[in-house]
Amino acid sequence: MMSANSFGLDNWAINFFIFVRKLTNIKIFDFSYVPLMFKNPIFLDVITRANHTRVEEVQRKLTQKILPITVTLPSKTVQFLRITHVMATMSFREFKLTNSSLRHLELCYFDTKFFPIITVEGFNSLEHLDLSGISSDITIGMGRIPHLIHLKTLILKETNLYNLLQTNTTAFKFCPNIMILDISHNYIWNIKTLGQLDNLRLLNLSHNLLDNVPMVVTKFENIAELDLSHNQFTTIGKKTLDWIDTQRKKLGTFKLYLNDNPFICSCSTTAFLRWIFTTKVKLDNNGNYSCWVAIDSRNHINYTRNIAEDFHNYFVNCDPIVWIKLGISLLVSVLSSLICITLLYNFRWRIIFFFFRNLRRFAEKGLDLTFDYDVYVSYSDDCVGFVKEVQQKIENEWGFKICIEDRDFIVGESIATERATSINKCRHIVFVVSPSTAENEWSRFEIERAKYEKFSQNLQKIVVITKDIALDNIPVEFSIIWKDVLLIQWPVEKDEVQMAWQKLRLWFF
Ligand SMILES: *[C@@H]1O[C@H](CO)[C@@H](O)[C@H](O)[C@H]1NC(C)=O
Ligand SMILES: *[C@@H]1O[C@H](CO)[C@@H](O)[C@H](O)[C@H]1NC(C)=O
Ligand SMILES: *[C@@H]1O[C@H](CO)[C@@H](O)[C@H](O)[C@H]1NC(C)=O
Ligand SMILES: *[C@@H]1O[C@H](CO)[C@@H](O)[C@H](O)[C@H]1NC(C)=O
Repeated sequence: MMSANSFGLDNWAINFFIFVRKLTNIKIFDFSYVPLMFKNPIFLDVITRANHTRVEEVQRKLTQKILPITVTLPSKTVQFLRITHVMATMSFREFKLTNSSLRHLELCYFDTKFFPIITVEGFNSLEHLDLSGISSDITIGMGRIPHLIHLKTLILKETNLYNLLQTNTTAFKFCPNIMILDISHNYIWNIKTLGQLDNLRLLNLSHNLLDNVPMVVTKFENIAELDLSHNQFTTIGKKTLDWIDTQRKKLGTFKLYLNDNPFICSCSTTAFLRWIFTTKVKLDNNGNYSCWVAIDSRNHINYTRNIAEDFHNYFVNCDPIVWIKLGISLLVSVLSSLICITLLYNFRWRIIFFFFRNLRRFAEKGLDLTFDYDVYVSYSDDCVGFVKEVQQKIENEWGFKICIEDRDFIVGESIATERATSINKCRHIVFVVSPSTAENEWSRFEIERAKYEKFSQNLQKIVVITKDIALDNIPVEFSIIWKDVLLIQWPVEKDEVQMAWQKLRLWFF
């Protein structure tokens, strides 16, 4: 045991290492914390414990020559080698293990800019390698480590690994079978890849700068322990939580360390908070982490367990946002249906007429009935003005085709033939009865034709509009069709006129 002494490493060292080579049966060799006095040197277990017979606890240290020569282990029996906290530049080129039974190698915290190549000759059974405190750029980054097939644990604390991970995608290729990887204290904020590490069980990412779990981590199938403590997480996303739950189910257990992250307890992180208290995953601190409460005006640090006990009180105001959203969408849908109903109500006649008309056309097609006009209007000279009004209403507003003598009769035909064929070509007939109707020689003819067409099932409606004439004075000729007639006594009052138009329109369908 020679740790924590102030040996010089010049001439003394050369003699010393020659001496070390002769110590063929040495079991424990400790040579750390040189050459200056370190503040809190950690002494080996064997010194403080009375019983130190366990092989696993035996730690050996090998001094290194500062000359540019190859260093080999003094004894092939050494299983445990620790050389740490040495404030000296390494200047030997190679560190050779020949058929070595070395299982545990720690070369840590060297104040050096150069690292020797480690080479393996014959078999090796190295399981634990710790290169903490030496920049990874000059160790694994330069390919200084041989292929270590048996390596189970790799520790690379404080090695500025963030730098290497940005540029080297095959940094961990030399140890494909590791189960434990400790890359804490490395200023890592993002990991692009760690390569193919199928056996990885424990990944220590604590004391880094992560604010979300890198995708590559969730690709490792066998991870059962993940240390994310001392990072920059404000919450953990649902995808990651789902992955963790899946891992736990698959592997039977999962340990997650989240202590000392700047968690936020707010409405947007309730899913994570709930998860903490319902998951079967083993959490450090019993799931009681400090978190920044940002609800309403309450802004203070509290603990997740405390908040869980008072969950309803904390998050009661989160739900209103949901309710407001729901309320608004309900209101919008009610309003839009109201608008729809109002529109439907306002245009009900148009809509009804539209369907009626199409239905009728369809029925007529089936009966092989075709009409050139919708309405034939019979009238006398003294109500031409009114007929013009009727024509405008029926044609321009309602969209029917009307047949009136003065406009539609073909010139040159006999007037009787023309009247007869026109009435035949119309769906309905309207008689406008006025005081001079009695003198109109054609009225009787038209009445006869109307009767004929009605009987032959061609004509559908016969409408009589009396204008400025009392019912008693209607010409007797109408008596023969009276029972088939729809009568409108054309009113004088404006309001009633509107009603009369509506009535007329309804009859045409
Ligand atoms: C990346 O790391 C591997 C393994 O340590 C090493 O062999 C290789 O040389 C490095 N590649 C680059 C480009 O630095
Ligand atoms: C991860 O590393 C940190 C710091 O090096 C250490 O304190 C912690 O115990 C490690 N976590 C696990 C699960 O080993
Ligand atoms: C933390 O929350 C609990 C439960 O709501 C409350 O009783 C306690 O006062 C809070 N602590 C602080 C420091 O605000
Ligand atoms: C959570 O941790 C804080 C700080 O250690 C402690 O005061 C509090 O009682 C803990 N809460 C529960 C419910 O254990």
